[in-house]
Amino acid sequence: MYTIVERQDLLPRVHLLKIQAPKVAAAAAAGQFVILRIDAEGERFPLTIADWDAQAGTVTVIYMEIGASTRKLAKLGEGDAILDFAGPLGKPTEIENFGTVVCVSGGFAMATIAPIARAMKEAGNRVISVVGARSKDLFFWHDRLTKYSDEMIVCTDDGSAGIKGVVTEPLRDLLASSTKVDRVIVIGPSVMMKFCSKTTQPFGVKTIVSLNPIMIDGTGMCGCCRVSLDGQTRFACVDGPEFDGHKVDWDGLLVRQKSYVAEEAVAAERCRCKEEGCGNHG
Ligand SMILES: Cc1cc2nc3c(=O)[nH]c(=O)nc-3n(C[C@H](O)[C@H](O)[C@H](O)COP(=O)(O)OP(=O)(O)OC[C@H]3O[C@@H](n4cnc5c(N)ncnc54)[C@H](O)[C@@H]3O)c2cc1C
Ligand code: FES
Repeated sequence: MYTIVERQDLLPRVHLLKIQAPKVAAAAAAGQFVILRIDAEGERFPLTIADWDAQAGTVTVIYMEIGASTRKLAKLGEGDAILDFAGPLGKPTEIENFGTVVCVSGGFAMATIAPIARAMKEAGNRVISVVGARSKDLFFWHDRLTKYSDEMIVCTDDGSAGIKGVVTEPLRDLLASSTKVDRVIVIGPSVMMKFCSKTTQPFGVKTIVSLNPIMIDGTGMCGCCRVSLDGQTRFACVDGPEFDGHKVDWDGLLVRQKSYVAEEAVAAERCRCKEEGCGNHG
């Protein structure tokens, strides 16, 4: 069992858990993830390693409540334990001194991109972070990302902080400016990663995206996380999750991510009924 040693509620539906998992913490690197199962009836689902402390033996994950499993996880607090916590999984981010690296993130990814920004900074890169959210109330770990960034560009859909608009706009401006950008890393919703990749493609700047297809085993055996890159099948759990955004079949990925929407709705409804004790669902 893996004990939760700290819980923070960062936003109403976004939570941080620090979990005692010494073997995962000892081997973790930026860009990797874990697959966890809360209890014997639970499904396996992946979360990115947002931070780790090899000495303390802890791993930090940050997640958004969106369905049955993440809502069940949100019921746990300090002292509770998780049944399975497998990792670190996936290939670490390729880190070297590229020159200037732009790290683009949106949603919960403003936390999961932080270790990548830190590693890029430590490798000697100039790091420019571009962070997007619907409004300023949805920012968290801003201070942490600022610490690792030489420049920070904030965007909000409603204009409540920074530039009013989406992340592709300052990204395009940066690429068109006199700043020489050597690599772009994008983490966030698939649609955001797709449009950032389309923005960088005409400029010929290598763009790495962290894909989030549905995963089950995380070992390359079940085939569930397959993605198509320039017509070649790859498994995001073992070949990724990071890939060249210019090669990804985005439309195929977006369709596959919605494969189980009906089942997910039933599971979420069952979860809600259990919480409210309606007694109509098993
Ligand atoms: C490599 C990777 C890293 C991720 N890191 C994070 C993270 O750090 N924080 C975070 O909040 N979320 C992260 N996710 C997404 C997270 O796994 C899903 O939000 C979670 O599985 C939803 O489960 P649910 O039962 O609560 O919701 P459901 O209602 O079951 O699903 C909602 C949506 O989540 C996605 N999803 C569902 N099950 C899975 C699964 N087994 N594998 C992948 N996606 C699934 C699907 O797109 C689905 O439509 C990551 C996904 C991947 C692949
Ligand atoms: S999750 Fe099964 S092959 Fe990747």
